[in-house]
Parts: sequence; structure tokens; C-alpha cells
Amino acid sequence: MDDIKEYHQRTKHRLNQYAAGPGYLDWETQPNPFRRYEGAERIELPLIKDDPASPYDALFGGARVEPRRFNLESVSLFLKLSLSLAAWKEYQGARWAVRVNPSSGNLHAEEGYIITGGAPGLEEGVYHYDSGSHALEKRLGKGAEAMGLMLDEYERRVNPFHSHGIFLVGLTSIHWREAWKYGERAFRYCQLDVGHALLCLRFAAASLGWRARLATGASDGMAASLMGISREEDYIGVESEYPDAMVIVSTGPDMPGDLDETFDGAARHFLLNAARDDSWRGRASVVSAGHAHEWPVMDEAARMVFKPATEEDFTPPPDAPLLPLSGCDKSAAHIIMTRRSGQAYDGASSMPAEKFVRITSALIPRADKAPWDMIPWLANVHPVFFVHRVEGFAPGIYILVRRPGEEETLKAALGGKYAWTPPKASPEGLPLYLLKEMDARGTAAMISCQQDIAGDGIFSAGMLARFDGPLAIGPWWYRRIHWEAGAVGQALYLEAEAAGFRGTGIGCYFDDVFHTTLGLEGDVFQDIYHFTVGASVEDERVITKPPYEGR
Ligand SMILES: Cc1cc2nc3c(=O)[nH]c(=O)nc-3n(C[C@H](O)[C@H](O)[C@H](O)COP(=O)(O)O)c2cc1C
Repeated sequence: MDDIKEYHQRTKHRLNQYAAGPGYLDWETQPNPFRRYEGAERIELPLIKDDPASPYDALFGGARVEPRRFNLESVSLFLKLSLSLAAWKEYQGARWAVRVNPSSGNLHAEEGYIITGGAPGLEEGVYHYDSGSHALEKRLGKGAEAMGLMLDEYERRVNPFHSHGIFLVGLTSIHWREAWKYGERAFRYCQLDVGHALLCLRFAAASLGWRARLATGASDGMAASLMGISREEDYIGVESEYPDAMVIVSTGPDMPGDLDETFDGAARHFLLNAARDDSWRGRASVVSAGHAHEWPVMDEAARMVFKPATEEDFTPPPDAPLLPLSGCDKSAAHIIMTRRSGQAYDGASSMPAEKFVRITSALIPRADKAPWDMIPWLANVHPVFFVHRVEGFAPGIYILVRRPGEEETLKAALGGKYAWTPPKASPEGLPLYLLKEMDARGTAAMISCQQDIAGDGIFSAGMLARFDGPLAIGPWWYRRIHWEAGAVGQALYLEAEAAGFRGTGIGCYFDDVFHTTLGLEGDVFQDIYHFTVGASVEDERVITKPPYEGR
């Protein structure tokens, strides 16, 4: 715990000194955002034009969606709506891809894997997802019978008529991709990106009428074996991949709460029978031609937070007030596919109170409801909003308490100096409090490394996470709190789009300046991510092209 706290301390940006990084972009060694497994069989996923028509509100449990049949086409749609390319962008001879899932600096450290016991059109196996061409690379074609164990259990409990299926999604990170630009702080960004990707997976599942939940019991060693990334012989002379998260996807409307245990048993079975098998195929491609810098602190951080196998009991969140409908008449898929980060905000537009109320309400976990059923633990992350221009809400600092009953702990951590007034325009039961009226535009921009987007938006937020508490359970909780903050960011991205605005994740901020501004002392809470929402000013010079034109 002390080691990872030291990493956190060391990688804070300070007014007089940024966390250690290269300080320039070494274009010679720019990381390739797409990894390939040379020698693995490639399966091009069908490019499906007709996206599901599910309404946007289905993403937050506000509409029922008939589950799609589990087959190659629906898996293709699932990956399209979660981890695929959304567009190619061109400007002055430069060309870059943007994806459904956002990433700090658009560097995309993460890789995705699918583990399936098979579905029509898709054989059993372990597959790497190549987002660059929307294809699967078959790393292992047999041995996925362990998935059969999970499937049996799943069918016994919720699916006696075999109408639905189940598969796993694994996420990993190639830390180097982010470290290339951001140096030591990059480990945090990788974890925030994972949080965004987790909610992307959940949203894609919801738009298909499916469920998805983090598998929390498995050790990182187990996850690495399942995805094949621990096979040193396939990664000689190339950048390592680190295991992040395993997600259970149910292609039906139900998800048994204790599938985790079955997952553990299945994974162990897999380990014994297949993971050491010699029928793995493919060698990982190199990401950068060379590394002008190495960042050993990143590797140390990764080692510190390696997760052992765990047995955890999570309490579901209590009932929360009904979530108001979004009022968005676009489909879920439309919002998912057209989401982009705002690059600049107009500094003038305002937001109606009911939209702000809906957005903040959508961040409160509701038991058994998308998207927060993805994350089984009680919330650790509380956004503190700098509200600049929301009608009916005085400009100032507000806090949303996402974990029921955490008000007193937060009050104490903030030195007891705020009134904690429920805003008049906020409905009863929404745990949103006004801390202090002020024009916070300058402060917000200054804290976000002088980025104007935080002051020109309609509101921005710093995310306070419970820190000492989770870390005392185990240092791997350092990753989990960042995943949760990333997930809150992803919910904000989509909610902003659905309300007719835009959002931007902000990883660059002065940690302790935010703490001092609030009067926060100690390590009970720490600020681990920022975000801004506003009326974006688009750069018309950038040309947008479709994602898979060549296919
Ligand atoms: C964890 C994280 C941190 C980010 N930090 C910043 C930031 O400090 N400033 C900024 O302008 N954009 C930031 N972004 C936005 C990314 O630059 C953006 O997601 C990326 O360029 C991809 O574009 P897209 O979101 O439109 O797909 C961040 C995004 C994420 C996910």
C-alpha cells in the first residue's frame, strides 16, 4: 500500500513541476496503436451497417431490449459498438483513427480478447481483437472447453432452454504506448482508459439486450494465462501486455450473481488443460521501433498492484430515486458511434437544469441496472463539479455523493467548512450538494493544467476517490478506483452527447491544487480524474472518413 501511494505521490503534476515524462514527442518511436499476432488465423468480422435500433435510454436501464441471438454477427456488432474504430481523421497530411472507446492522448494502450466456447459462425477459442481492421486473430482454437463449464452452470441456472450464451472479454494494456508520451504518470492513464473501455463494453451489451459484468475473483496471473499474454515465447523483443480486466458477457437478459466462482473453476480447468498447450498461434508484433526512454517506475507500479485470486462479498447499492428519461430520441448505437471528445468549448452556452439533473442522476449506481451493474462494488468515486453555466444552479462547487451515506466522511475530510445545501433545482433524493457559490471558471482551467476546456465548458468535474480505505484491502484496488473513475467519465461522455453537448476526459490536472482548493487534507480521498462538458466548437478543417473503407 505504501509503495503504490508513493507512486501516486510521485506522479502528481505540481504547479512548479510536472510528473517525470519525456517532455517532447519522439516521432521516430511513435507507438503503433494496432498490435497484430503474426501467424494466427485471421477471421474478418462482418461489417454490419444496420446498427441495433435500441433507444438511448436502454443504456441506463430505461428501456427493454429484445436480446440479439449469439452468433458471429452479434459478436461483430458487440465489438463494433465497444472497441472498434469510429472514424479516420485527416488534417494537413496527418491521418489518425479514433475509436468508440476514448483514450488519453488517443494512444490506446489497451488490447481486447474474446474467449468463447463457440457460437454459430464462431468456433470455440481465444481470440485477439484487431480493431484496426475489425478482425479476430485466433490465438488458441481448442481448450476453450473450460468455457463449457461456465456455460453449463449458466444454462442450469438462467438459461434452461439454451436460448442465450455466454463469453468472456479480456482487456490488457501495453503500458509503453501511453508512457511514450506521458512517462511515469501514464500508468494512471492506462487504468482510466480501462474504465472507459469497461463501460463501452457494458453499453454495447445493453444496446444488444445483453448483460456484462466484471469478473472479480480471478488473479491477474490467471487472466494473463487465459489470454495467452503470459506466453513469453510469443513476446520476444516486443512490448509486454499487462492483464487488466476480465468481463463476463451474457447474451441474455439475466446474469447470475455468482458466476464469478464458476469462472474461477473454469479458468483453473483451462489453465491445467489448455494454457500450457502448444497449440497457441501467433507472435505479437512490435509496437515501437525503439524506446528513447524507459520508465521502470511504470513497471514497478504494475507489479505493486498485481491482483491475487480473491473471494469478495459485494453489497449491491440500495434503491436510488428513479432515473429521469434522457429525452434523447437518437438510438443508443448512434450516440455510441458518434461520441467524440470536444477539443474546444464556446464559453457561452448554458444547460437547462433538467439536463444537468438527468446527467448527474445517471451517475448514481442502481442495483441490477445498466450500466453500473458492470461494477459490483459500492461506489468509491464522487465527482466534484465546477458548475459554470447551468440554468437554475448558482455557479459554484457542487459534490455528488455516489456511495450512499458517505456524506459524513466527506464532510470530515473537507474540514467541515461547507454548508452542503441541496440545490433548489435538484430533485429530492439526488445526493447532490452545493458546497460553495463562486465563479470557478478560472480556477477550473488553472487546475486542469491551464486547459481552457475546463473553464469554457458548462461544467467540469474533479473526481474524488476513496483512497486509503480501498488500498488497505489490497494495492490492486488502486486500479479499480481508476477504472471506476474512467467509467464515470464514459457515462459523462455519452450523457453529454445525448443531451446535445460534448465531453472531454482530462488526465492532466494539478492534483494537490485541487485538494487545496477544496480544503481536502490527508489520503482518505484523492482526486484521480477530471472531466469537462460543454457546447463544443468543432474544427471544420479536420476531415472525417469512414472507419473501414478498405474492406
Ligand atoms: C483518461 C483520459 C484522459 C484524457 N486527458 C485529456 C486532457 O487532459 N486534455 C484533452 O484535451 N483531452 C484529454 N482526453 C481526451 C483524449 O485526447 C481523446 O479521448 C482522444 O484524443 C480520442 O478522441 P475521442 O475521444 O474523440 O475518441 C483524455 C481522454 C482520456 C480517456
